[in-house]
Parts: sequence; structure tokens; C-alpha cells
Amino acid sequence: MDKLQIEGGSRLAGEVRVSGAKNAALPILCASLLTPEPLALTNVPKLNDVRTMRALLSQMGVAQHDGDGFITLDAARIDWPLAPYELVKTMRASILALGPLLARCGEARVSLPGGCAIGLRPVDQHVKGLQAMGAEIDMAHGYINARAARLRGTTYVFDVVTVTGTENLMMAATLADGVTTLENAAREPEIIDLAQCLVRMGARISGAGSDRIVIEGVARLHAAEHAIMPDRIETGTFLAAAAATHGDVVVTNADASSLTAVIDKLREAGAHIDTNATSITVRGNGALRAASVRTAPFPAFPTDMQAQFMALATLAEGASVITETIFENRMMHVQELRRLGADIEVEGNAAVVRGVARLTGANVMATDLRASACLVIAGLVADGETTIDRIYHLDRGYECIEDKLSALGARIRRVS
Ligand code: UD1
Repeated sequence: MDKLQIEGGSRLAGEVRVSGAKNAALPILCASLLTPEPLALTNVPKLNDVRTMRALLSQMGVAQHDGDGFITLDAARIDWPLAPYELVKTMRASILALGPLLARCGEARVSLPGGCAIGLRPVDQHVKGLQAMGAEIDMAHGYINARAARLRGTTYVFDVVTVTGTENLMMAATLADGVTTLENAAREPEIIDLAQCLVRMGARISGAGSDRIVIEGVARLHAAEHAIMPDRIETGTFLAAAAATHGDVVVTNADASSLTAVIDKLREAGAHIDTNATSITVRGNGALRAASVRTAPFPAFPTDMQAQFMALATLAEGASVITETIFENRMMHVQELRRLGADIEVEGNAAVVRGVARLTGANVMATDLRASACLVIAGLVADGETTIDRIYHLDRGYECIEDKLSALGARIRRVS
């Protein structure tokens, strides 16, 4: 199993290019199921989650072609409208196949995702929404079995704000009979990216990016080309790493408008940040100050940046209170940060982080994707060597992170 070894103490400097967004690529790959014509995508990140999703689609019968910088998915035929447990258990986002399969094939069989390290993560909203659109759904042997000759438009009010739930219903509604209105929808930028791709495929969607999305169903979608948006969480991770190491870094292919809450908090913590249309410059030359964050759905501070921000807070002057409101068990990095010398107390869903003068390198274990990124940042600022085990989590969501950080001057290497 691969590990990362980091020799802390280097100041990050230079330019780094952000890859395409994992959380936009995954639903957009599933959107290929909605049409018998090819969908050509650029800026698709090379990540394990993307490979898993492509394997899932390929098993269903979706032909795929890799060109120079793009991939084409061709779902002319769907042989197996099935997402098996073996793939869903490694990547919960496989649930995103449910809506498109049902809308296109009239049936779908998708494994129920279990709990995962960061929480229970039920999919009741995906199921209830599709039922409201006329699907007959039963659960048996750990699978969601869904049927609908043709879905019908409806108004569905989400009980909780869910990103993949919104995406699943939005995709299903593109081929439904009549108009679907999704109320209390998630507003994440990845939903806008998916909607833009669907519109290029001939879908009629308005309101994506607001909490009310209206989709007028059409009989058929067609071929399209789409460039995946830049990854805002990867962007935020580089910003936090640069600020933590008192670095001077230009993050390119970045969209600052999708990261306002993160940029505001990094500024509050003492980083100097300048933004323009496609890049963000961060200078962390002064002392870091404590800043408190509370995660919440977009546009508030993203849960996917909570762990990385906590790494920064471990060295900031004063006490930061970091409150996690989205997932019930997303503080597992705290134990590992403590092994590096951080002073953190957890009370319920809040962590009080008191800045210390220095962290010291140690062996630590990555527990989930963003916790891994948090430990990388902590390793970059800790004295001496930090070895991070179980970095397969990191490979799910960060493309060549050690190469990108090395190019910025970090002393980091992968060992088997
Ligand atoms: C997506 C992101 C993930 C991010 C999360 C929150 C993808 C592929 N993943 O995950 O990186 O951390 O949004 O921004 O885009 N919930 C229910 N019932 C449901 C669905 C969700 O109760 O049917 C609850 C969840 O348990 C959680 C909250 O709603 O507490 C938000 O979850 P959700 O937005 O659905 O997360 P994902 O879409 O799985």
C-alpha cells in the first residue's frame, strides 16, 4: 500500500494548475446515460473515482473513447441498467446512475450505499423524489429496484439539502413527461456545471444554482461537448497549503467565485489573497490568526474544506472553533493532527483548535479523502518527517498531488 513521506518546513512557491472537478465530473459522466448519442468531455480529472465511475458505465454497456485531452462516452445501448454493490461500496457517487438509468431505460437496479467513514449518508431523498415522479421502487437484498414506464414531472421539496440528490432528480427530470420543480435544491456550483452540460444535450432547465430548479422534460437528448469546471476543493486545498506554509502561490484554472466563503476565511486567518477571472494568488507572509468556521451547504463554508482549514488553524494564533454541520462523523483527522502535536478538543460536532507554535512529524493514517489532504498540509508545516498511510483515499480525489506540491517546492514523495 502506498504512503506519502513529507519532510516539513518548505515554503510553497510558484504556480499550480487545478484539475477538473471530481464532483462535477462524476454526475456528468452519468449524464451520458441519458442519450444514445455521444457525449464528449474535456478537463476530466484523472482520479480513481473517475476510473470507478467509468468502469461502472462500461459494465452497463457505455462505449468509451479516450482522445487527446478529452473522453467520449457513447450510451447507444445500455445492456445492464445495474450498479452492483462491489462498485457502489467503493464510491457512493455511483448512486448518481439511478436517475439517468430509470429515465432512459424505464428500470434500474442500484446497490444501496452503506454508511461510510464520515457518516450514515442515507439516500432517502433520491428515492422519495423519484417516487414522487411516478417510479415504483422497492428495496430488496441491499438493492434499490426502480421501475417507471415514463417518469412524470412533479414538484418535489427536498427535506434536506442534498447535492447528489438534486443532481439525480435533475437528470431524471430531463426525460420526464411534463415539468418538474425541485424546491430546496442544493446550490453547489457543480450543479450548475451539470445543468449546463444537460442544456447542451438539449435539456430545458432553469434555476440551477438557486434553491428552485425547473426542468421541462423532453423526449430525447442528443450529442454534446462539455468542459468540466475546475475543482474548487482542490483549489481551496492549495490555497490552504500555501497559507499554512507562508508561501507565495498562484493557483491557475481556478474560479474564485465558487470559493468565496473559503477565501474570506483564509483572509480572516491572515492570508493575502488576490483573485482574477481564472487564477488566485495567495501570500501567507504574516502570522496566522485563529478563525472560526461552520460548514453548511453552498454558498457557506464547504464541509469538503473543513479538514484542510483545521490543519491551518493548528498553527494560528488563538482559538478557532470549527463546527461541522453536514456529516456526523467528520472529525477523524483530529486524532491524527493530535499525533503531530496539535491542541484540539472536540465537543459534539465542534472542534476547538488552539494554535501551537509548531507541529512535529509523525506517522499518521488517512481516514477519508479530505482528512488525507488535511494531513498533507499538516505534514508540510510539521518539523521533520511525516508519513501518511492509506493514501488511496487521496488518489480518489486529487490528481498527482505529490507532483503538484513538489513543483511548488514541497519535499514529498510516494513510497510503496
Ligand atoms: C456531495 C459531495 C461531497 C460533499 C457533500 C456535501 C459529490 C459526489 N459528493 O455528497 O463531496 O461532501 O455533497 O457538500 O458531489 N442526506 C439525507 N438524505 C439523502 C441525501 C443526503 O439525509 O437522501 C443528508 C446526508 O446524510 C448529509 C446531508 O444530507 O448529512 C448532505 O449530503 P449530500 O449533499 O447528499 O452529500 P452527497 O451528495 O453524498
